Amino acid sequence: MLIVPRQLLLPSICVFLIAIWLVISLLSSRSNYNEPGVSPSSILQVSGSAADNASNTTIGFEKILVLSHGPSWRTRGLAAAANLTGLQYTVPPQPPVHPELSAAFAKLGSDKGKDSPTPGGSRAWLAHLDLIKYVYQLNIQTALIIEDDTDWDVSLRTQMKSIASAIRNLTLTDDLEISPYGSDWDIIWIGHCGEFWDNGLETVLFDDISVCPHDKYYGWARDYMSRIPEGKRGVYWSSNPVCSFAYALTHEGARKVLELTGAGQGEAFDVKMMGECKIGNLKCISVVPEVIHQYFPAEGYGVKSLKDIGDGETPGTEDGRFESIKGSTENILFSARCQALWGETCIRQ
Ligand SMILES: *[C@@H]1O[C@H](CO)[C@@H](O)[C@H](O)[C@H]1NC(C)=O
Ligand SMILES: *[C@@H]1O[C@H](CO)[C@@H](O)[C@H](O)[C@H]1NC(C)=O
Ligand SMILES: *[C@@H]1O[C@H](CO)[C@@H](O)[C@H](O)[C@H]1NC(C)=O
Ligand SMILES: *[C@@H]1O[C@H](CO)[C@@H](O)[C@H](O)[C@H]1NC(C)=O
Repeated sequence: MLIVPRQLLLPSICVFLIAIWLVISLLSSRSNYNEPGVSPSSILQVSGSAADNASNTTIGFEKILVLSHGPSWRTRGLAAAANLTGLQYTVPPQPPVHPELSAAFAKLGSDKGKDSPTPGGSRAWLAHLDLIKYVYQLNIQTALIIEDDTDWDVSLRTQMKSIASAIRNLTLTDDLEISPYGSDWDIIWIGHCGEFWDNGLETVLFDDISVCPHDKYYGWARDYMSRIPEGKRGVYWSSNPVCSFAYALTHEGARKVLELTGAGQGEAFDVKMMGECKIGNLKCISVVPEVIHQYFPAEGYGVKSLKDIGDGETPGTEDGRFESIKGSTENILFSARCQALWGETCIRQ
């Protein structure tokens, strides 16, 4: 038996109590360790749930960049939709493009029988290249480029979590990779006006309650989209996506797109980029059906796209005449624009 001198008794009791406290707290922290959320098995899943970060205010990309030629009904509706859904974006000012450069760009390769963009298409192409150069020069690691007349579902940020998880599965991304969409891609095509699909294509399909039902899907790819089971969305290596409403680029993807599409020689920017995806020069992933689509102002006001105006069509009416009247968006079940501006849905019927 240990004999403690009387004058040391009190300090010894203190040391003893501290020791007990230490043991208890160690034990209890061990048991915390086994609670859901911090168990050893879920430590591995922490990186698996990197896909959950795809629901942040820039939907898991470093930046959302908007391609815009200035304030209009397009950008005002976009701002309202982004505010409603809690998205943060930047609109880098588009540098001016000399008309002679645009005209010369359109003619590149025409002597070799290559396709040429229309004048409006040439300008739009150069605008995309300018924005992609911005991504490259600012050393942005992942950027989502969206056109300023686009629209999306009010649940976009939730949709992107499943999309990120599916893309990680498609690309066999390791759980330790923290980038929400992994890094084995050049382009993720989330906003388009159609894609080819059949069940021979290796696809990660998942449930999505906000997916556009078959009978409401509009556009040239309607029959292909009908092959996807109702209530499901899918991701796969791109086959034939068209329209550049919204696409994400990695930094390396930006470099490749500049090299591969920087000398024109195609029908339009989106068609050229799709061609490079198709032959495997770009690693492209498509999301079907799309989650971002162009919004159309109400019919009957003759509103023209900038490309159509560039191609010589007369601009329609002033924004003020139609801006307050609800238009429509194809293939988006619960439009963020229409919800923000009118408190209503506006899927094209
Ligand atoms: C998600 O993002 C937050 C904040 O950016 C970061 O601290 C966290 O590590 C990320 N989670 C994963 C699993 O990558
Ligand atoms: C959202 O997540 C991405 C990927 O982790 C990150 O690069 C970006 O900075 C995040 N956005 C915000 C606003 O924190
Ligand atoms: C954004 O939304 C908030 C409410 O969530 C509102 O108070 C604010 O006025 C909105 N801003 C714009 C620019 O629409
Ligand atoms: C991806 O794979 C994981 C693990 O098999 C699974 O839990 C998850 O649901 C998959 N994600 C999608 C969207 O299919």
